[in-house]
Amino acid sequence: MRHHPLGRTGLFVSELCLGTMTFGGGEGIWDQIGQVQQADAERLVGQALDAGVNFIDTADMYSGGRSEQITGQALKNLKVARDSVVVATKVFSEMGPGPNARGASRSHVIDGVHASLKRMQLEHIDLYQVHGFDPATPIEETVRALDHLVQHGLVRYVGVSNWAAWQIAKALGVCERLNLARIESLQAYYTLAGRDLERELVPMLKSEGVGLMVWSPLAGGLLSGKYARDQPGQADAAGGRRATFDFPPVNRDRADACIDAMRPLAQARNVSVAQIALAWLLHQPQVTSVIVGAKRPDQLADNLAATTVTLNADELRQLDEVSRLPAEYPGWMFERQGAYRRKQLLG
Ligand SMILES: NC(=O)c1ccc[n+]([C@@H]2O[C@H](COP(=O)([O-])OP(=O)(O)OC[C@H]3O[C@@H](n4cnc5c(N)ncnc54)[C@H](OP(=O)(O)O)[C@@H]3O)[C@@H](O)[C@H]2O)c1
Repeated sequence: MRHHPLGRTGLFVSELCLGTMTFGGGEGIWDQIGQVQQADAERLVGQALDAGVNFIDTADMYSGGRSEQITGQALKNLKVARDSVVVATKVFSEMGPGPNARGASRSHVIDGVHASLKRMQLEHIDLYQVHGFDPATPIEETVRALDHLVQHGLVRYVGVSNWAAWQIAKALGVCERLNLARIESLQAYYTLAGRDLERELVPMLKSEGVGLMVWSPLAGGLLSGKYARDQPGQADAAGGRRATFDFPPVNRDRADACIDAMRPLAQARNVSVAQIALAWLLHQPQVTSVIVGAKRPDQLADNLAATTVTLNADELRQLDEVSRLPAEYPGWMFERQGAYRRKQLLG
């Protein structure tokens, strides 16, 4: 397990992060995503830590707060030294009645951190992420509130999730102008079958030194290859979430083409298709950490083993060809107009 610095910080996080969205269960989508309870969650957390994972991701809204509770209790029961683990959680989603128990206002961000700390039985959160962009709160209000949390020792680093490139760039500018804690990471959806963020977000992250945490790296299990192409609603015998909760949205033809390209690479190594899908992400230079999700120890073991899969240049080219995004403006003008200057840079 390799460890990478998070954004421009001196904090090192493992290349795989343990996602805890399957912890808790409950009603609606939470029942479909997972119902992992305390004892099983502890086994998964222990298994990840034993493999060298030092990074755990949860959110206030996962299973209505149960995921945070189970995660915090697991760290306590397993007697995990606080400084050996980087705990990330999120704020933004609706957590109660009334107009203010949601969003990225100063009010909800400050209430949210106290509620998360209480649920997790922690004194600080290592990475506090704004789960979505709030069109109703000025960016300056949000980043000032996040900085307040850092100054008070409740939060060590700050990140966002599901924000557009311009929103992050604007926030970084505000942070710099006002000398506030910087946004160090973006948590975003990225897979071989969904490379949309390569258009605007990846160049921005590279330019600004912001880290990338990848969510749903198997597109909710789809890229493990266990769903039959001609029966999109059917999972394997073990029953998978995508059979009832079709998220994140994917272009199924593109995803099937990616699975077809990954299958022979997996067979040649005698590994799973899931491992190839995760390994491809681990080979992308902008990726800091891939957040793996699992309901069972066998799935987690499979995913952890992806760190040992090395793809050669020819295999990466094959996967790139099948999954490359179609050219889009202004990208195709960047290609044409910048060609000479890029060549000059190479010497
Ligand atoms: N920021 C955000 O908006 C956001 C959104 C979503 C997730 N996240 C974060 O990202 C983490 C991972 O997301 P995710 O759970 O959607 O990840 P994922 O890797 O796309 O899907 C995980 C699911 O796929 C199946 N699976 C996992 N490993 C497998 C394997 N080796 N072979 C076959 N099936 C396998 C399991 O479900 P089944 O057994 O049901 O198929 C598992 O629960 C979450 O825990 C959360 O921390 C963040």
